[in-house]
Amino acid sequence: MAEEEKRTVQIALIGAGTVGSGVLRILAENAEIIARRALPLQLRWLSVRNKDRGQRILDELGFGETRLTTDWQEALADPATDIVVELIGGITPAREIISAALAAGKSVVTANKDLMALHGGELLQLAAAHQANLFFEASVCGGIPIIQALKENLAGNRFLEILGIVNGTTNYILTRMQESEADFAEALADAQALGYAEADPTADVEGDDAARKMAILSSIAFNSRVTYDMVSSEGIAGISRWDIRYAADFGYTIKMLGIARCDGEAVEVRVHPVMLRNSHPLATVRDAYNAVFVQGDALDKAMFYGRGAGGAPTGSAVVGDIIAAARDLARGCGSRWGCTCYRQLPVRHIDDTVSKYYIRVQVQDRVGVFASLAQALSAASVSMDSVMQKRKLPDGGSEIVIITHPSRHSNIRVALDLIARMECVREISEYIRVEDDAD
Ligand SMILES: NC(=O)c1ccc[n+]([C@@H]2O[C@H](COP(=O)([O-])OP(=O)(O)OC[C@H]3O[C@@H](n4cnc5c(N)ncnc54)[C@H](OP(=O)(O)O)[C@@H]3O)[C@@H](O)[C@H]2O)c1
Repeated sequence: MAEEEKRTVQIALIGAGTVGSGVLRILAENAEIIARRALPLQLRWLSVRNKDRGQRILDELGFGETRLTTDWQEALADPATDIVVELIGGITPAREIISAALAAGKSVVTANKDLMALHGGELLQLAAAHQANLFFEASVCGGIPIIQALKENLAGNRFLEILGIVNGTTNYILTRMQESEADFAEALADAQALGYAEADPTADVEGDDAARKMAILSSIAFNSRVTYDMVSSEGIAGISRWDIRYAADFGYTIKMLGIARCDGEAVEVRVHPVMLRNSHPLATVRDAYNAVFVQGDALDKAMFYGRGAGGAPTGSAVVGDIIAAARDLARGCGSRWGCTCYRQLPVRHIDDTVSKYYIRVQVQDRVGVFASLAQALSAASVSMDSVMQKRKLPDGGSEIVIITHPSRHSNIRVALDLIARMECVREISEYIRVEDDAD
């Protein structure tokens, strides 16, 4: 861009927590390179809840000219504010902040997956109506530029499938369970000690966080609005080190996976643990890293890999969006993206999805157990690929593992119910879907 076009773009940042602080640090440390690459950015407003803390951050990073407020409306009301960066999270008042900024024709950058996974459509339409940009790269997989890739670089593709390790906490826990033979509780405690898991880890381990990200990704990829409440999710708390070990015996790695597919008639989107072939690129993604595996008709397959959380990696995506918004402003172009959901396909019910299943059962050790299990499966129209006895239990019972052929989830539920009621069965310990074809 010619020097004369380089006007200073004014930013209001709302929220200086983990990501907000990461953004502030990048803006401070990389100010010169950003100004030379794109155009100068000025932090005009910082809106926080705790003014003393906010002032300390500004002083430490040298933002001497920034106005500090505890009232975000003050920052929005300033006609000089060009870009509003919402980093407080949650629905209220984030939705109000973003709506007000867009309605005033200001560009908005957010990392808010909760909000975008529920109200993304309405906010993008509002942005388009006011010729404003709404960028939300950091809402999915922190530093990995997957939204920009789907919306722009890969926009010439018809997307067939998106598989994602989109939650670092569960990937860290499963990696620990696999590599240290830890139980779930030990691995979770380890993740909490390292700051990878919250004190209340429910949203991560039950799959809610991943479901939000998959709602956003599938809406973009399939141009059909999927909201968070439409995504079926199952968590990893029931997985034991025995499942991890048996998966390894079969050549699989257990991953918490987001799966989104579209056959043109319906969208399938779900989050749950999966046994993936060790040869699949996603099986190699360790620790708290994220990865998204995309299949497009022209692209074929590509994997995006990186850090899905943390102040600096997430801040990297936020600052990238700020720069994109600033460039657009400098060129006078407003709403670049808008809402790309031009159709509304049904979301397939989880009961109608088809997978192979691994089922781990504890039974009494007696003649005829295999035949009875096969009978129960057959009564539910589930056909068995293999069955094997894995270990003798200390009290004389046995642990049996069944792998099914591809089966509808509704039939699996009937089969599990029949198996649970068999006299020789003590418990169904776990069932996990097997994604054999996903590579
Ligand atoms: N952390 C990550 O790695 C990550 C990754 C990807 C996306 N995200 C998303 O990024 C957003 C921010 O997450 P975070 O981890 O940075 O959260 P956080 O550490 O809890 O920070 C949020 C900050 O916003 C402040 N705040 C709350 N309400 C406010 C208001 N009305 N006005 C001004 N400030 C207000 C909070 O102040 P108090 O300290 O007083 O509560 C806190 O400092 C969320 O949408 C999250 O989902 C986070």
